[in-house]
Amino acid sequence: MGLSQSDIRRIAGFARKVTKAPSVETVISETFETLKAIANIKEMRIVYSPAPSSWKEWKASPDSVEVRPHDEWPAPGKKGLTLLFDPDDEHSGFVSVDKKGEKVRSTLEIMTPEVWCALLLQSALRRVQKAAISETELVRETFRARDEERRHISRELHDDLGQSMASLKLGLKWAEDLVRKKRGMEEVVKELSTARSDVGTMLEKIRDLSHTLYPRILDTLGLVAAVKELAYQASRHASLAVNCTVRGKGRALGKEIDVALYRCCQEAISNAIRHSEASKLEIEISFGEDEVRVTVVDNGKGFDPRALYDSNSRMMTSGFWTIRQRMADLGGAFRLSTSEGHGAVVELIVPYSSRKNHASRKNKTAPR
Ligand SMILES: Nc1ncnc2c1ncn2[C@@H]1O[C@H](COP(=O)(O)OP(=O)(O)O)[C@@H](O)[C@H]1O
Ligand SMILES: [Mg+2]
Repeated sequence: MGLSQSDIRRIAGFARKVTKAPSVETVISETFETLKAIANIKEMRIVYSPAPSSWKEWKASPDSVEVRPHDEWPAPGKKGLTLLFDPDDEHSGFVSVDKKGEKVRSTLEIMTPEVWCALLLQSALRRVQKAAISETELVRETFRARDEERRHISRELHDDLGQSMASLKLGLKWAEDLVRKKRGMEEVVKELSTARSDVGTMLEKIRDLSHTLYPRILDTLGLVAAVKELAYQASRHASLAVNCTVRGKGRALGKEIDVALYRCCQEAISNAIRHSEASKLEIEISFGEDEVRVTVVDNGKGFDPRALYDSNSRMMTSGFWTIRQRMADLGGAFRLSTSEGHGAVVELIVPYSSRKNHASRKNKTAPR
């Protein structure tokens, strides 16, 4: 086959190096250097398909290496010699050189499968790294959402409850002084009655806060009833007609899915109330074959969804950002369709196969 002992040793060294190569660039340059040394080639093309219908091409010559992506199959030229990565698939990719001859063919026949393996390995490594990064990002973003919620609760406690308590304390002190001096009983009664009504307001606030921390209705009545309750609360806004429908046979989804869907639905409803100026709100919970879908549709003024993103395509606004994170965490999806003047549709979709669906594994009881 025209290969000397030292050529074979060189190819063996090449195989060892490319399996441990730190990058695709190293794979390409080692291939070129080895082919240059053994077969005296001047030019080399490597085409590789990292994903269906997409190819990447490296063109190496003694002075440079060019890299180009392709959406169309970049066929090898007629001159020189080409070996396909997968002989059964002509679009699998190839190594092509500018020389022909027995020695070049033998060298390429040994090296081409090694190059393909090394490139496949590099793609797999990149995918694993990407998955690890998005997992880290998810954890970081979960913490951000949690901190956001804590900031909200802390603000409510400090600004609302804190101030009401402080003024209640002052009022009680004033009443206490009057009683001690046995003067102004009428005013004392007035002050006490204001204090009583303040305490009533504070109790409501505490109930709301406790609900914000955890909507207990989910435990007692389940997701469907809890969403209906949200719809009922929304319908108390005089200008809004709210309709809530349930389709399909309800089923237990597990606490995490219940809480996430409830929270996201609450955010979508609160957005419609705060921002949309809608007169109609349609909420639908649909139990399908493989997934549950909650849809919130308003007929309001809509908006340009591009406003939710900054110039680096990162979502900025916290409400939709949290919805997206919650759905991603469940392996579900969040879809928003809106345009100025045409209302907004928010869809929340969670597959029953979500790994958070403990209910499907433990008990199959339907929600109350
Ligand atoms: N249903 C809606 N109708 C009209 N505009 C909306 C609607 N939902 C959201 N928006 C717009 O999108 C923005 C981002 O919403 P969101 O992420 O929930 O943040 P926030 O409600 O805190 O402003 C809102 O400020 C509003 O301008
Ligand atoms: Mg919002």
